[in-house]
Amino acid sequence: MNIKVLITGANGQLGRSIKKIIEDFSDLQFMFLTSEQCDITDGDKFRKIIEDYNPDYLINAAAYTAVDQAESNEEDAMAVNAYALQNIGRAMAGKKCIHISSDYVYHLDKDVPYTEDMPLNAQGVYARSKAIGESILQRTSCDSIIIRTGWLYSEFGNNFLKTMLHLSETRNEINVVDDQWGCPTYATDLAYVILHIIHEDSKNKVSLKSWNKVYNYSNIGVTNWYEYACTIIKMAGKSLLINPIPSVLYPMPATRPPWGVLDTTKIKSEFSIEIPAWKVSLEKCIDILIN
Ligand SMILES: NC(=O)c1ccc[n+]([C@@H]2O[C@H](COP(=O)([O-])OP(=O)(O)OC[C@H]3O[C@@H](n4cnc5c(N)ncnc54)[C@H](OP(=O)(O)O)[C@@H]3O)[C@@H](O)[C@H]2O)c1
Repeated sequence: MNIKVLITGANGQLGRSIKKIIEDFSDLQFMFLTSEQCDITDGDKFRKIIEDYNPDYLINAAAYTAVDQAESNEEDAMAVNAYALQNIGRAMAGKKCIHISSDYVYHLDKDVPYTEDMPLNAQGVYARSKAIGESILQRTSCDSIIIRTGWLYSEFGNNFLKTMLHLSETRNEINVVDDQWGCPTYATDLAYVILHIIHEDSKNKVSLKSWNKVYNYSNIGVTNWYEYACTIIKMAGKSLLINPIPSVLYPMPATRPPWGVLDTTKIKSEFSIEIPAWKVSLEKCIDILIN
């Protein structure tokens, strides 16, 4: 029997990264829907799509990810990242959904990696919309796995890695903040974990107890944006002078958490996965981008 998996937000970094690897999961049948084909904020149309396709699993890769724009566009950010989770949870009642959230929901004054049981302290519209979305989904009767991730990059769309590569072609010198810490996460690695969970679950190898839980996922390691930028330029064999600056000298509409390091012990042990070090995956993505 073919297990059906529906992916929303198919044109985003994660959506396209999932599409890239589906040949490795030939026992799963995929349907990818872009925002034009499936607007998750439209409850009636969304329910109809779920009724017609009848997926066993839904991966919600759709999101409003313009963190700074969200500050002046709260309505849209909340509609997509928070209230649309009601549509998803209702339409997928009795079925399973993997939903992606953000390290921004923690925003704690810590210097140890966040574990999933730490209290949330979302700051700013984007972070709050992601935190509200989590709790809305958790209150529906859809079985969910919520994966909190951060600093996502890929060969697709816009991200920090691609910006740095572009700047190395157009500028001689840039400033990058060195007091915000986290770990870059390759969307392909995240895509593999998501499909691994679904594959194992469809073979009844995942305990029901693993559902309705929150997991952190990032690549392994800790860095800051300045070190990350320097590593990109070095790995790509480019030249660009990068000056470290404190984030007070680079004000943005949305406050960034100074600490966004995720403890990934829970997802590793629950699903028996290994997670690559961030530099290993970064090298792979840079290789794809520049060759
Ligand atoms: N990027 C990061 O650094 C980061 C960090 C932590 C967590 N996350 C989370 O990881 C997940 C994937 O992020 P990403 O980087 O892949 O995001 P992305 O590249 O911005 O893709 C998001 C996709 O969602 C689609 N979308 C927006 N509104 C929609 C709607 N109403 N209905 C259906 N689709 C809609 C967008 O459509 P269009 O193509 O039409 O715009 C886009 O294709 C998101 O939940 C995000 O919050 C991302």
